[in-house]
Amino acid sequence: MFILPNSATIIEVGPRDGLQNEAKVVSTEHKLQFIENLQQAGVQEMELTSFVSPKWVPQMADAKDILANVEKTGRQLVLTPNEKGINAALESGARAVAVFVGVSNTFNKKNINKTTDESMKALKPLILQLKQDGVFVRACISTAFHCPFEGAIEPEDTLSLCQQFVGWGVDELSVADTIGMATPTESYELFSQLKEAFPDVLMTAHFHDTRKMALANIFAALQASVDRFDSSAGGLGGCPFAPGATGNVATEDVVNMLHQMGIETGIDLDRLCEAVQKIEPYVSNPVDTGMYRLYKNRA
Ligand code: HMG
Ligand code: MG
Repeated sequence: MFILPNSATIIEVGPRDGLQNEAKVVSTEHKLQFIENLQQAGVQEMELTSFVSPKWVPQMADAKDILANVEKTGRQLVLTPNEKGINAALESGARAVAVFVGVSNTFNKKNINKTTDESMKALKPLILQLKQDGVFVRACISTAFHCPFEGAIEPEDTLSLCQQFVGWGVDELSVADTIGMATPTESYELFSQLKEAFPDVLMTAHFHDTRKMALANIFAALQASVDRFDSSAGGLGGCPFAPGATGNVATEDVVNMLHQMGIETGIDLDRLCEAVQKIEPYVSNPVDTGMYRLYKNRA
């Protein structure tokens, strides 16, 4: 028999992971409208934006304006790699911060301009301070399965990185298949080990859908008792520093799969598709996800 929970949590990453990779910059007004529409569809946890260098990622240059104007509801995460970003996020009122590090040194260097060790050394005191101040901390682990530069990643290396974060008291691990190369067997094996090693942290799976294996990987992660999934409305996005990586798995397709299996998410699928329809004119490519296509044909 399959192991299936009664409910699962979606962490919507469209406004951050989705829009950070857009060829044309989406206006602050349209981003805020997208966030509000997602909230109204029932999304409770969301990465709203990132506090990163605007030279590296110009699409996220309006992070302060996003935080200043967003409707305060649910868990509102902002992504940031360093002290400057964390300070700016806190000054803007953030109470939930996502830090990110690649298991692969080469990827980390291209993404954050530091080796993995350098990033970890710099993050340790920052995370300890955030926890002392009662801030929710999520650690995003990039290239947990495969790296575009170094190839396959040893599960022990991913586990060892997660171990450090857990030791510093993070609340959540978001373990990522950055380039969408993991297989369902790899997903099951890694998440089984992670759940066994770290039973007390929130464990989230973050799949990009480059090879259309993300839904299968989510099903495999469910078998390993994972019940939290990052996804992006409309399947938008990808990491600008991971060649070949396309968007995250589409929230509407994940929600549909979960609902069809009797797993509640608290998200209204039609309202979610409406949110996708409203942002679609402002992104570079037409959205072509399974559930969104059905929604448009029905409308
Ligand atoms: P650097 O050039 O080594 O940094 O970049 P620096 O410390 O030398 O600073 C350079 C300039 O950036 C300075 O400004 C700093 O003030 C500024 P200047 O004096 O030249 O005018 N700066 C900042 N500005 C705003 N916010 C900050 C910040 N830090 C420095 N936080 C740095 C290092 C980390 C800044 C850069 O590499 C960077 O911003 N990288 C971000 C990369 C990124 O956003 N990638 C995508 C997100 S990760 C992802 O998508 C993966 C994930 O989805 C999981 C998965 O799928 O794998 C999470
Ligand atoms: Mg990602």
